[in-house]
Amino acid sequence: MMVISIFHVIIAKITLNYRGPNKVTINIIQITDLHLHADRNVSAHNINTFNSAQSVLRAIEKNERDFDMLILSGDLSDDGSTASYENLRYLLKNFDCPIYLMSGNHDSLDSIELITNKNNLKYQNYANLGKWGIFMFNTKKDNSPNGILHQHELVSFDKITNDNKDKYLLIMLHHHPVPIGSESMDTMIIENSNELLNRINHTQIKGIGWGHVHDEISIKYNGALLFSTPSTCYQAKPKSKKFSIDLSQSPGYRIISLRDDGEINTKVIRVTL
Ligand SMILES: [Fe+2]
Repeated sequence: MMVISIFHVIIAKITLNYRGPNKVTINIIQITDLHLHADRNVSAHNINTFNSAQSVLRAIEKNERDFDMLILSGDLSDDGSTASYENLRYLLKNFDCPIYLMSGNHDSLDSIELITNKNNLKYQNYANLGKWGIFMFNTKKDNSPNGILHQHELVSFDKITNDNKDKYLLIMLHHHPVPIGSESMDTMIIENSNELLNRINHTQIKGIGWGHVHDEISIKYNGALLFSTPSTCYQAKPKSKKFSIDLSQSPGYRIISLRDDGEINTKVIRVTL
């Protein structure tokens, strides 16, 4: 009897230690800037964007087990065609977790709406996940490649923070909210990003992630982690005057882990084509 009860104690301890730290961690995979076309054979900067996105998604399927959702942070399509979003749906067909689609400057909101909110593909700006909330701004500005925070979304964001529903917040964007030191990219920055940056001091914002810049960046800003994620296709040379391709970097995705204590752990995984 004595042996059995010690055995039980050991098992209980192992279980607690094993499950404890991860039990309530939310794992998100961010994928961004797929730039799909209606025609699956189209290449941009010598990369077939359909094949490249497919390679990244296959790597996720093969190598990642423990994730709760995908967030696709814009420029899902390059040409905005309905067929390009059908290609996206085809590429995502093996994933049954919630998949949040966000709009980038190349996207068509009408086409995104055609394929979302009927299944696990979602188009919505807010999700509550227990202690964490995720707010996904639509930073697309009409008839412009630049980013903008729309007033009605800022109002709904403020309502959510004032209601104190979430202890911690992750914000996702398509465009970058801070300059990245690349002249051409920085012309397309979120024009009124101060509206968001000024809110970091007095809300629960722990992290802000984006795509658009086709490069990996990580910055600490007033206690929040700001980060961008590589595209699933071509990569941009950091801090270059004109947009130029960085052949030394592969496509990739980002794992974002939201811990129960408000910490964010995140890393980029590159995929060799
Ligand atoms: Fe973009």
